[in-house]
Amino acid sequence: MSFDEIVRLGQQRGFFFKTAESYPNTPAGFLDYGPQGVGLKNRMVELWRRVVVKRDGMLEIDGSQILPRAVFEASGHLSSFTDPFVKCAKCGSVFRPDKLIEEKTGKGVPEKLGDAEYDQEMERSGVKCLKCGSRLSGTTRFNMMFKVGIGPAQEEAYLRPETCQSIFVDFPLLFKTQRVKLPVGIAQVGRSFRNEIAPRQALIRLRELNQAEVEVFFNPKKADDPRFDASLDKALSFRLPDGTDARMTVGEAREKGVVPHKLAGHYLALIAGFYEDAGIGPDAIRFRVLAEEDRAFYSRAAFDLEAKLSWGWVELVACNYRGDFDLGGHARVSGSNFTVDDDGEKVLPHVFELSLGIDRSMFAVMESSMKGEGERRVMALRPYLSPTQVCVFPLVNKDGLQEGARRVYEDLRESFDAFYDESGGIGRRYARADEAAVPACVTFDYDSLKDGTVTLRDRDTRAQERVSVPELRSRLAELTRSPAIGKRGPGR
Ligand code: GLY
Repeated sequence: MSFDEIVRLGQQRGFFFKTAESYPNTPAGFLDYGPQGVGLKNRMVELWRRVVVKRDGMLEIDGSQILPRAVFEASGHLSSFTDPFVKCAKCGSVFRPDKLIEEKTGKGVPEKLGDAEYDQEMERSGVKCLKCGSRLSGTTRFNMMFKVGIGPAQEEAYLRPETCQSIFVDFPLLFKTQRVKLPVGIAQVGRSFRNEIAPRQALIRLRELNQAEVEVFFNPKKADDPRFDASLDKALSFRLPDGTDARMTVGEAREKGVVPHKLAGHYLALIAGFYEDAGIGPDAIRFRVLAEEDRAFYSRAAFDLEAKLSWGWVELVACNYRGDFDLGGHARVSGSNFTVDDDGEKVLPHVFELSLGIDRSMFAVMESSMKGEGERRVMALRPYLSPTQVCVFPLVNKDGLQEGARRVYEDLRESFDAFYDESGGIGRRYARADEAAVPACVTFDYDSLKDGTVTLRDRDTRAQERVSVPELRSRLAELTRSPAIGKRGPGR
């Protein structure tokens, strides 16, 4: 299914829509989630908590979205969190030169080109203003953080561009008060804000985005500790910087130097497992190993987890070996002590990061689960991710069937996310439920009045069977059970 069709379906079925749709001049890059979107987001986060955070024994925090200037001085965002942009001297339109060159040549541009190099590349590849056709030059930089002023004095602060800075700043306090030892992961789910020059593609590049980030703090001398051996046999796909593809185990990736240490391999395996549980198969997931010139300013080694979608590979998680860049920076600027004790050794921990984009992951999971057959469109989400778990219908709207169906619905909604629907014909109701990823539909009919059974219809097979209402509850509980329950992952 195409990108545009998913966007249309997402809107029709209440997953997401443009912010302030009724105001035509609302800037791009903002989205509102409808009821189905909220449900899917919550379930994806819950799955991530179970299979990544809890399974690995991490801590979770919820930090402030506004942070003072000094935090971003230390993190490097004030000086380095910039995108190149070029303004047309004739018509004033603004573009990202790297994107224009990419669109014109079909080839990627290294992220770390200088401003003059962008101008040369635009000249060489014949890039022109998309609005008025003039030549473009004069590339400059734009800091992508949203600045805010606190209180009447308008004290300088910023909306966080990534959730992880409060994890770094809070690390010494958490380490001490939570009585943890290295290595330890600290996780956070929340909003981040990036003043993108060219937001695009619905949930893929937003100015206000949802992240689920993990920062693993470790002693760099122990990054190849045997405690990470549990993941060595896990096979992963890599796109190497020379453009070749290789499938290998984590152990082989470590031997060949594709990953810098076993710890990194372990966490790549853990996050790949999350997407497999979310319904994106191993063939559609790969790690793109970034060359030095493509890595973020804080990164020593970087792996973009990408999913294969209808229009190509899309980055869902940035996995970065950040070394001591962050704790070192905060120690320097704040003057506080960020070293901790590791079995008698004073260590400034290194960090390995899994930075997951929730919005784009939702889109990827929705797109990957779409199935079609003629007119029929089914969003075959894993049932434990489905925002609505069961729909209840009366077969027809007369003879007491509505009252019976409502009683079943009221009973089920105590334990499940249930929806009652009596509008339109039964075929149309099934079709709407299929498009909204509802795994089970229950119909109350004339036999239900006689023997108390209802029809349970499976979204994926379309098989129908008669079940009693008490059995219905246990069947739905089984159907919507999280995969993390009763399954041991590569936990340490
Ligand atoms: N923390 C890394 C990122 O937001 O991309």
